[in-house]
Amino acid sequence: MLRDAARGVYKRLVLADNRIIGAVMYGETADGSWFFNHLKEKTDIAEIRDTLIFGPAFAGGAAADPLAAVAALPNDGEICGCNGVCKGKIVEAIKVKGLKTLDDVRAHTKASSSCGTCTGLVEQLMKLTLGDAYNPAAVQPMCGCTDFGHDDVRRMIVAKGLKSIPAVMQDLQWKTSGGCAKCRPALNYYLVCTWPGEYEDDNQCRGTARHRRCRR
Ligand code: FES
Repeated sequence: MLRDAARGVYKRLVLADNRIIGAVMYGETADGSWFFNHLKEKTDIAEIRDTLIFGPAFAGGAAADPLAAVAALPNDGEICGCNGVCKGKIVEAIKVKGLKTLDDVRAHTKASSSCGTCTGLVEQLMKLTLGDAYNPAAVQPMCGCTDFGHDDVRRMIVAKGLKSIPAVMQDLQWKTSGGCAKCRPALNYYLVCTWPGEYEDDNQCRGTARHRRCRR
């Protein structure tokens, strides 16, 4: 079990006979596909048991190497749990359809198009498949409190059913405890637009007139 209250991360693995038979994750779920594949394949995890909880990037105590971990996943390994998309389907789409951007992959495979939790894995897969030809367009973060851009935050508010500013900040692992003058008005606006009638507009978070006009 791994609990990091400061980061809002909780992970618990249930093992029997050196096999994963259950997993619970909260706050940081990017390694979920890797654990699920081991569970499905009934992999003998005896050799990586001590570091298993830290996920594929540290499997066996190796230095963190996310690309190697993604490369080691089988083709039928699930990458996107929301849309049931496996590694092989994404790699094939990238090669056969000449996909070059994350938006291309989202459009053709649906991977990473819902909650966004698997986005990091999809990007690693693109880097692995395209090599130097992969040139991720820099996503402009909302502000210094998060690495997510506006579009990703809006998508995840909907996909994860996040209905308050604290819920957004906790689930998306905001780097600051209360946000800032840039992100709080934006989050308030997105929540008002997404959950009209359910979310109570926070007057103190209101931004410019442009922010106050919800377009649906
Ligand atoms: S796990 Fe892929 S979009 Fe949610």
